[in-house]
Amino acid sequence: MIDVAAVRADTPGVANVAHFNNAGASLVSRPVYETVALILKEEYLGGGYETARAHDIDLKAVYTSLAALVGGTVDEIAVVENATVAWQQAFYGMQFQPGDQVLTTTSEYGANFVAYLQMAERRGIVVDVVPDTPAGEIDVGALEAMITERTKLISINHMPTSNGLVNPAADVGRVARAAGVPFLLDACQTLGQMPVDVGEIGCDMLTGTSRKFLRGPRGVGFLWVRQSMLDRLEPIVLDHHAAEWTGRSTYELAAGARRFENWETMIAAKIGFGAAVDYALDLGLDSIWERNSYLASELRSGLGDLDRVTLHDRGAVQGAIVMFDIDGVDPVSVRDVLYDQGINVSYSTRDSSVVDFDRRGVQSLVRASVHYFNTEDEIARLVQAVAGLVR
Ligand SMILES: Cc1ncc(COP(=O)(O)O)c(C=O)c1O
Repeated sequence: MIDVAAVRADTPGVANVAHFNNAGASLVSRPVYETVALILKEEYLGGGYETARAHDIDLKAVYTSLAALVGGTVDEIAVVENATVAWQQAFYGMQFQPGDQVLTTTSEYGANFVAYLQMAERRGIVVDVVPDTPAGEIDVGALEAMITERTKLISINHMPTSNGLVNPAADVGRVARAAGVPFLLDACQTLGQMPVDVGEIGCDMLTGTSRKFLRGPRGVGFLWVRQSMLDRLEPIVLDHHAAEWTGRSTYELAAGARRFENWETMIAAKIGFGAAVDYALDLGLDSIWERNSYLASELRSGLGDLDRVTLHDRGAVQGAIVMFDIDGVDPVSVRDVLYDQGINVSYSTRDSSVVDFDRRGVQSLVRASVHYFNTEDEIARLVQAVAGLVR
């Protein structure tokens, strides 16, 4: 069980705002802030390279923490700038041929879908969107039926950017394994809010970011690549960190997932990310998931009682992202009015998930995303503030 008083004491930001933008960027905890601030200060006072050298053990520990988070090994982790860069390394590394098929979901994230479209244009791949079950998550039976000998990749999100649903990743993994098709999982929105284990899921590649439910600093993310998949991916770009320059005409790819990294990085953010992962692991992902599920259902039930407010989450299993709109009130002004009252929410627009928004017939929605440090009182404040907009 989460000790709410303790996690709030670790999160000074809660004194200033009721923060419901954890799917955007959460509030960092004090240990994360102090880690980042300390390293920046050491760089400030003693030099960047020298500080990195002094923190060599801490830098290595980031890989151990991320491996523990997803149930992989340290050699399977690449730490990069964000989840999109991580995802691009996996996706573009697939060496597509004309006619190769990629199977994805209706709720796929904009950055990923644009990359599919570019590969369709550039390489002639075929992008097929698997239908949903009536509840809203990917229909695994339909996915199975759509696999052909040209299926090169199954690429889905674990939780969409603008929908509280959890896709049945382990069922997708079983289908992918049985068919021998690589499986790329965008776990950007589930890491840090629920247990995510690559062994149980059976994916081959997984991507995540620091700043969302993991509560780390901005500007850092990671890729996990199953050992057996490493040599099937061609890194899209190389530098002399990703590969050793061995002679005038030769180079050798770095061992393990390091081949997907590049040399320069914000050391403070990277080590801060490790501290954030450790914080989540110490709390326990099962406990976090239990509390987040409870808080999200409290919020859905409070908002659901209001006239002219429509909830938009789908899926048999729903997590911490709560999507809604208010009849006749633009989501941007909802965000702005709530902000003026000390409540942070965000909004999602059609371009972040075109297939999903077009099917729903909406242009934008408010996104309120809870995290374990939120309280029932904060939820009541948010519901009351929304009620104020309805009148
Ligand atoms: C489902 C999903 N995938 C990927 C991303 C991209 O993450 P990043 O901004 O760290 O590249 C996001 C960000 O909102 C997301 O919601």
